[in-house]
Amino acid sequence: MGASTLKGRSLLTLRDFTPGEITEVLERAATTKELAARGEREPVLAGRNIALIFLKPSCRTRVSFVVAATQSGAHPEIFGREDIRFGIKESVRDIARVFGRVFDGVMFRGFEHSTVVEFAQYAGVPVWNGLCDSYHPTQVLADLLTLRENFGDLEGLPVTYVGDGRNNVAITLAIAAGKLGLDLRILAPESLWPAAERLAELRTEAESPRAAITVTASPKEALAGSAAIYGDVWVSMGEEDQTRQRVETLRHLKVTTDMMASTGRADTIYLHCLPAFHGPDTETAIAHPDICEVDDDVFEGRQSRVFDQSENRMHTAKALMELTIAG
Ligand code: CP
Ligand code: NVA
Repeated sequence: MGASTLKGRSLLTLRDFTPGEITEVLERAATTKELAARGEREPVLAGRNIALIFLKPSCRTRVSFVVAATQSGAHPEIFGREDIRFGIKESVRDIARVFGRVFDGVMFRGFEHSTVVEFAQYAGVPVWNGLCDSYHPTQVLADLLTLRENFGDLEGLPVTYVGDGRNNVAITLAIAAGKLGLDLRILAPESLWPAAERLAELRTEAESPRAAITVTASPKEALAGSAAIYGDVWVSMGEEDQTRQRVETLRHLKVTTDMMASTGRADTIYLHCLPAFHGPDTETAIAHPDICEVDDDVFEGRQSRVFDQSENRMHTAKALMELTIAG
């Protein structure tokens, strides 16, 4: 078997990989997950160095990439906003060239998509987008792995995303739908629908004949027959000033046991990229008691797969790093 076509490649949006390449990452992730469960770890990245840059906070992305890199034999080094001072102390392109000379790969979490694009252009080593304002491809790889584990084939699988339909996770799920043939329904109030031209683009670029991307404010239309209901925070990082208005817009779409039942399927699962507001158990939730995108009954219930999904961040991060660095 020759080197993977992914060797040397960056993942800035899921558009960067073909459907076959996305499947290759998912299959490698499933294999490394099995190996890890048996305590077998192949040091595919022995002697390599990985940089993790966070201009926004993170729990899952950070722990996933750190542990995945370490289990693969690489050394991960973390940089926060104040360590680097992008565009303040030094330009993005100069920092990218420094990192590209010393690291074998870079995970980048930032704000505008154009920054990670510029970083990758100048770094010359694989760069993985660990979330920006527009996309979250490393999250959606884990979501796809979780869906495969529960339902097998993804072609034609009905999945409903509920919440802010314009955000980084919703748009990345729509790209994934186009690549792998999901029947994605985005359930959101009209004010939070993706822009019409963006939606047209997403539909036009779809590569799978089974792909469908529906955007609707009707729970009935969005939920009938759905295999998974997928939630995200109502207010993404960087939009905190819109919290009050967002709560008013989205409160009727809180995921409840009734909503789960309304799919008409007993095997519907609940997914959430996390962090989630599902009860008054954090300082932010106590300060904003009416932010609650999902009831505890669902979040903690038998249909929830949110912590499998979270664990899958690590397995998919490992597969992604191994394939893009070592091939
Ligand atoms: N889902 C996700 O990306 O989580 P973090 O923001 O904690 O990394
Ligand atoms: N849409 C969320 C995802 C968090 C993982 C955000 O950008 O904050």
